[in-house]
Amino acid sequence: ALPAGIEAILARMTLEEKAGQLQLNAAAWSGGIATGLNPPTTGGPSFEGQLADAVAGKLTGVFNGNGAVMARRMQQAVMRESRLKIPLLFAADVIHGHRTIFPVPVAEAASFDPDLAMRTARMAAYEAAAAGIDWTFFPMVDIARDQRWGRTMEGAGEDTLLGQMFATARVRGFQGKQLGDIDAVMACIKHFAAYGAAESGLDYNSVDLSERTLREVYLPPYKAGFDAGAMSGMASFNEINGVPATGNAWLMQQVLRDEWKFPGIIVSDYTGDEEMIAAGFAKDGKDAARLAFLAGVDMSMQSNLYALHLAELVREGAVPQATLDRSVRRVLMVKHRLGLFDDPFRRIDAKRETARSRTKAALALSREAAQKSIVLLRNDGDLLPLDPAQRIALIGPFASGQHDLNGPWVVYGDNNQAIDLATGVKAAGARTVSVTPGSGVEEPIAGGIDAAVAAARAADVVVLAIGESETMSGEAQSRTSITVPAPQMALAEAVAATGKPIVVLLKNGRGLALDGAVKAAPAIVVTWFLGSETGHAIADVLFGKVGPSGRLPLSFPHESGQEPYYYAHKATGRPAPDGPRQPYKAQWRTSPNAALYPFGHGLTYGKVGYAAANVPATLAWDGRIEVSATISNTGTRACEELVQLYIRDRVASITRPVRELKAFRRLALAPGASETVRFTLTRAQLEFLGGDLRPTVEPGTFDVWIAPSAQADGVHGTFELVR
Ligand code: IFM
Repeated sequence: ALPAGIEAILARMTLEEKAGQLQLNAAAWSGGIATGLNPPTTGGPSFEGQLADAVAGKLTGVFNGNGAVMARRMQQAVMRESRLKIPLLFAADVIHGHRTIFPVPVAEAASFDPDLAMRTARMAAYEAAAAGIDWTFFPMVDIARDQRWGRTMEGAGEDTLLGQMFATARVRGFQGKQLGDIDAVMACIKHFAAYGAAESGLDYNSVDLSERTLREVYLPPYKAGFDAGAMSGMASFNEINGVPATGNAWLMQQVLRDEWKFPGIIVSDYTGDEEMIAAGFAKDGKDAARLAFLAGVDMSMQSNLYALHLAELVREGAVPQATLDRSVRRVLMVKHRLGLFDDPFRRIDAKRETARSRTKAALALSREAAQKSIVLLRNDGDLLPLDPAQRIALIGPFASGQHDLNGPWVVYGDNNQAIDLATGVKAAGARTVSVTPGSGVEEPIAGGIDAAVAAARAADVVVLAIGESETMSGEAQSRTSITVPAPQMALAEAVAATGKPIVVLLKNGRGLALDGAVKAAPAIVVTWFLGSETGHAIADVLFGKVGPSGRLPLSFPHESGQEPYYYAHKATGRPAPDGPRQPYKAQWRTSPNAALYPFGHGLTYGKVGYAAANVPATLAWDGRIEVSATISNTGTRACEELVQLYIRDRVASITRPVRELKAFRRLALAPGASETVRFTLTRAQLEFLGGDLRPTVEPGTFDVWIAPSAQADGVHGTFELVR
């Protein structure tokens, strides 16, 4: 219930003022570091116009504005001049940092360390809140099983368990102890729902998904985020089984409110309500407002449709007054929980904004997160770590320069303040370093390859920094072919022809299909978009100051045509055999079924072995078993091994995936050390949705693997679940 004072305000509101509380628009003064996003659509193109709207009660708040000074001016005008003095809400896309930029979320998921994600989210909230931001449109918890989809970079990858863990951590990080604290920022679970399942990986495309897959694979991370206390959610752009998510009462009423008991607010995505017209679901703007609102969208983003039509819809009887009041009450409730009625300026403090921006602690955390996000895919002949005394040729479009360091979806961070690769490598004490771009990202450079070949010849080792630019992944950046662009491939082939050893550093926001000289390189490192401390963190790993410890949160297929590709697939009745291709099997003509680099894969600088599985023969119905394996490091360097537990239910009334991740544990192993890792299994971990879509477990045989990836054998055993 709302405090009496706020209820009293509600009682005094006109229908127009109520509709205004449900309208959120992009800040007209938006100049968050030039992303070109968010042209203003209300109040005219000026700050003054939007200010007048806010004072007139036509807006609940704005998003992606720029800084405390402007926010204060706006809040002051509303608190002094508006009739009801309801504080504005300031929202923003603080996705992987505010001014200090952390690795893109999928990179951070490669750490398999939810606690790290909680700490970076906390730090982002600490910076952003001081700039007056009450609400972030994060975390994105959409499962991404198709690497053609550009927004893969914004989530936690392809796995449901990992998705749940990161959703929880990120909500807790942003919201802190309680929403009213000055450095708490309200989290928003997006995009509800199944946005990542867009057909053919095309952003905004339709989603056609069984309720089973939706509930079993896609919904759990959203639920985890709401259960962690997120007080807002965002409806997704896509339709699901013929009904746009923004107009989907089943999703927002039945699942979210009735089953999950969500008490907070749901906002549409940017003009998502209006887009139901083009999608063929709403007749016009008024119809779209009605459909979105009645389906459960409390607040409209950017289209202005609620401000324009809701009052009239209530007057006409098309929308019940009580439903309008319920949504307004929810919005006032979150403003109250954020402490805005106590002090509308509590987060807006220009001095604090400066003092908290890019602190030493934040940059150190960014470096730590970047180090832990890096994944070593291959390291033949122990080419890595490098010796700083070697002559190093840094080659490629990402070898140096203040571009593409932060990655997509950065509104406030500045690439000019980030550390590039060349700077990081030199700072690490490398003695002879040449830097040659060799190629642009998608266009060749005249003479670039010749210069790169000459640089490679003069070096002992080549570090080839290639991949995707930050405009190649992210929203609306769907790709049909997830390869390294052709001009960079030509560069890689020419450099490889020199015979010099090559360390490939991939920059990417998605899983890639590697080919030719890139695939054949003896060392391959996934460096994603790592943010403010990119160059330092990569150099730390290249020279062995820290060992690589990240693991792939998504599969790298052999070829683009394998997408959508994910490890937890079903077996089929004609599974692909091990060994040579056989006719009439579920198998590609020219490509293996396996991943080139599977989910969970990542090497260390140690030499890790898995042995001596101990898997008890039976699990009693109400019992528990301990499964264990001995993990050893026979190498000469210390390492951190991520030990993963997978299971398979061999026979069930509903077929089960060939493997499912159930747990993981990080192990620090000194050279020569070995340790026994134990996992506990109970019936609960073996549950699935039965024919009636309710959780069930069936007795029978289960495989269990303790392994270094979803595709590795590691150690294997079986047990019987007996009733
Ligand atoms: O938060 C984002 C969303 O993820 C995509 N559309 C725009 C929103 C606000 O900027």
